[in-house]
Amino acid sequence: MREYMNGRIVVTQGDITTFQVDAIVNAANKSLLGGGGVDGAIHRAAGLELKEECRKLGGCETGEAKITKGYRLPAKHVIHTVGPVWHGGDRDEERLLAECYKNSLQLAVDNGLKTVAFPSISTGAYGFPIEKAAPIAIGTVKEFLENHPEIEKVYFVTFSDRDLEVYLRTADRILSG
Ligand code: APR
Repeated sequence: MREYMNGRIVVTQGDITTFQVDAIVNAANKSLLGGGGVDGAIHRAAGLELKEECRKLGGCETGEAKITKGYRLPAKHVIHTVGPVWHGGDRDEERLLAECYKNSLQLAVDNGLKTVAFPSISTGAYGFPIEKAAPIAIGTVKEFLENHPEIEKVYFVTFSDRDLEVYLRTADRILSG
């Protein structure tokens, strides 16, 4: 675990469903009705009421974000965002991934939330190369935090050792340089 920006950004490794923050972000699909990966883990940990609430949201477009309660999770809320599927980089994937982080944090601000945890959006089933995704994630969050002092802390919660290594190397380059 390593901290940056006076502790406002933390890069760490673990299971995001255990994080006791105002909101954890879910790497969802457009239906918002659950899936595998971190989406499956969050729904399993939150319980069936999460899907019940998601059902009323009418889905979510790529790059957009919607908020629900956290139910049985230690987190108060879940911010569901839909990352772009990687198709080689010529379908606006990089901009859409940045939108996921921006819109999720904007939703946190709109709801008066101060602490948010992100998984590595789109870098699992959606195939976005982690080496390209990490600088987008960290750069977008850095810029948002510079303009929004009300967000106190953002955690990047990586799952695999490799993802942690990429995020730490990227954060050292972007946030400590
Ligand atoms: N905590 C933190 N990170 C996790 C966890 C967890 N419990 N489980 C998986 N991850 C990590 C993965 O290792 C990956 O780095 O989350 C990252 C995102 O991977 P996916 O969950 O596969 O998400 P994504 O690539 O955005 O694909 C989304 O997969 O699960 C379906 O319904 C989801 O269709 C959507 C698609």
